[in-house]
Amino acid sequence: MRLKPTAIELSPRCGLGVQYASDFIRCRKLKTLPSQKLHVVTGAFGYSGKYIAARLLKEGQRVRTLTNSVQRANPFGGQVEAHPFNFDAPDKLVESLRGATVLYNTYWMRFNYKTDFKHAAAVENTRKLFDAAKRAGVERIVHVSITNPSEDSPLEYFSGKAKLERALIESGLSYAILRPTVIFGKEDILIHNIAWTLRHLPVFGVFGDGTYKLQPIYVDDLAALAVTQGKSRENRIVDAIGPETFTYRELVRVIGESIGARRPIIGVPPWFGYAVGSAISRLQGDVFITREEIDGLMSGLLYTDSPPAGATRLTDWARANAATLGVKYASELARRKNRAAAYESL
Ligand SMILES: NC(=O)c1ccc[n+]([C@@H]2O[C@H](COP(=O)([O-])OP(=O)(O)OC[C@H]3O[C@@H](n4cnc5c(N)ncnc54)[C@H](OP(=O)(O)O)[C@@H]3O)[C@@H](O)[C@H]2O)c1
Repeated sequence: MRLKPTAIELSPRCGLGVQYASDFIRCRKLKTLPSQKLHVVTGAFGYSGKYIAARLLKEGQRVRTLTNSVQRANPFGGQVEAHPFNFDAPDKLVESLRGATVLYNTYWMRFNYKTDFKHAAAVENTRKLFDAAKRAGVERIVHVSITNPSEDSPLEYFSGKAKLERALIESGLSYAILRPTVIFGKEDILIHNIAWTLRHLPVFGVFGDGTYKLQPIYVDDLAALAVTQGKSRENRIVDAIGPETFTYRELVRVIGESIGARRPIIGVPPWFGYAVGSAISRLQGDVFITREEIDGLMSGLLYTDSPPAGATRLTDWARANAATLGVKYASELARRKNRAAAYESL
């Protein structure tokens, strides 16, 4: 017998469902409440996109994700529908964005790797994403970039990000561009692998003198900023930095103290640090760090003089997460090769 729905509520089993006056809840096609809007978040089963999606769901919004990994462990159950990116099928990409008010874009490739992935491809695909969003009638794009992007930069990460910022600004779409430095959280790579190295090596080598600065932002603070910016229609560029500024040397010391792995921290020539990093890469079947990343760090590109956009202190977070921080190596390549497991389990 078909029963009349008695209430619309968030059901843990099937997301936003329809509760029936019966002894079970039937999950039906998602019903939209009048205040609900569709938000599209890239990579919602990955790192920062996951926190943005979680915040939107908490506010009762509908969330769809575009991802390379539709089969990846989905922490949201039926509440988030997953579509592939479809960069090579523009009409399908448009359809997957149709009806969305805001697109939150986290899509990027961290480094060039063999013929498998390249910054240039990330730039080309992101342009396609912006075009598709415009054709689909998306009202606003919240785009995650990087601190200090520049089209003149010799570092492709920073020049590619600058090209994309310009493409978005010139698209005529309403935009917020968020420029984070290092993003920390339980799925992060850099901070985890600094901790992992401290746990495994008797001394820690910083590239050069280690006095270049960073201002890490907590991933959920970045997500909060993204969601807030999704509500505005004012064009904005925000440096998404955390409340603490560390030199790289201080950052390593703070992480070491937090996890109880105090090590001598010595300055090493960048080529030597890269060689040690390459040995770790071979051991782990990963790319531990690239020459470009070392150059970006040492050129102070992860530092700005803007006010903080997040309140969570890495110092507090590292202490609170000392039991797990850096216990396991965090592998970028494992995340790209295994498209089914959650990041934090790889
Ligand atoms: N993490 C940081 O410390 C940091 C610092 C500064 C700026 N950012 C910026 O913040 C944004 C989000 O970073 P995140 O660390 O949160 O990223 P993420 O979740 O690991 O990935 C974001 C999206 O990009 C896709 N992606 C990542 N690498 C890829 C590759 N090699 N080939 C194809 N697709 C790839 C992911 O694919 P799936 O759909 O398969 O998950 C996901 O859809 C990026 O734009 C990044 O430049 C990050």
